[in-house]
Amino acid sequence: MHVARTVADFRAAHAALTGTLGLVPTMGYLHEGHRSLMRRARAECDAVAVSIFVNPTQFGPNDDFDRYPRDEEHDLAICREEGVSLVLMPPVEEIYPEGATTTVSVGPLSTTLEGAARPGHFDGVTTVVSKLFAIVQPERAYFGQKDAQQLMVIRRMSRDLLLPLEVVGCPTVREPDGLALSSRNVYLSPEERAQALSLSRGLRRAEAAWADGVRDAEALRALVREEIEAQPLARIDYVSLAEQGSLAECAGPATRDALLSLAVRFGKTRLIDNVLLAV
Ligand code: PAF
Repeated sequence: MHVARTVADFRAAHAALTGTLGLVPTMGYLHEGHRSLMRRARAECDAVAVSIFVNPTQFGPNDDFDRYPRDEEHDLAICREEGVSLVLMPPVEEIYPEGATTTVSVGPLSTTLEGAARPGHFDGVTTVVSKLFAIVQPERAYFGQKDAQQLMVIRRMSRDLLLPLEVVGCPTVREPDGLALSSRNVYLSPEERAQALSLSRGLRRAEAAWADGVRDAEALRALVREEIEAQPLARIDYVSLAEQGSLAECAGPATRDALLSLAVRFGKTRLIDNVLLAV
């Protein structure tokens, strides 16, 4: 496994590879969810590259950039175990050289839900992901469905910019008790973690109601809210039922495939989760 800390070094190592390359972009502190992306990439590509870069431009002034968990040794051990060929682990100056002013923005899809709660977040994501795509030049890139809006935004960017790669969405990986895996779960106290199970419980409740034929958007959102509002430490940012393609919030009965998503705070920790509801 080659670990490149500069773009030039990555490009030199890349030139020695043959066949298709799959990219798993990450911000490190790798967990089972990342492993599942690497395994999927290994199954579908001749070689796998992983990028590990905590991207400052996707964090707002009140976000957790400075305290975002980092563990380089542990991350590299996981990449080795998963048969990764190339790791790109650059310092900030490699990705944002002095004087860089160009940003990538997909517009309306990136200003709702997570984009409304975290202004500028998706411009930071699309800017860094387009740079990673330009450096790594993968045939396929793998992203988790847990960040459902991020996946949609990156798909839109790749389509709009005619990028010659496939964006592959992979299922959310959960703990046995239902908590969606996230690098931020380490921030949770035992009490917060126990109460955070209400997120997946609420989503499952709504999913079951949907399977029983319930389509009223407000009723579905209310099922999720009820479950979470019963937890004293939980502060809901949003619970949304939105149309899949546009992310326009559903009103009345949902008639198309929909994304039921939420963001909830426990103290300083903000968790997101979602399920897709197909008609
Ligand atoms: O999902 C993430 O970890 C990040 O948003 C990504 C896609 C690596 C861009 O920094």
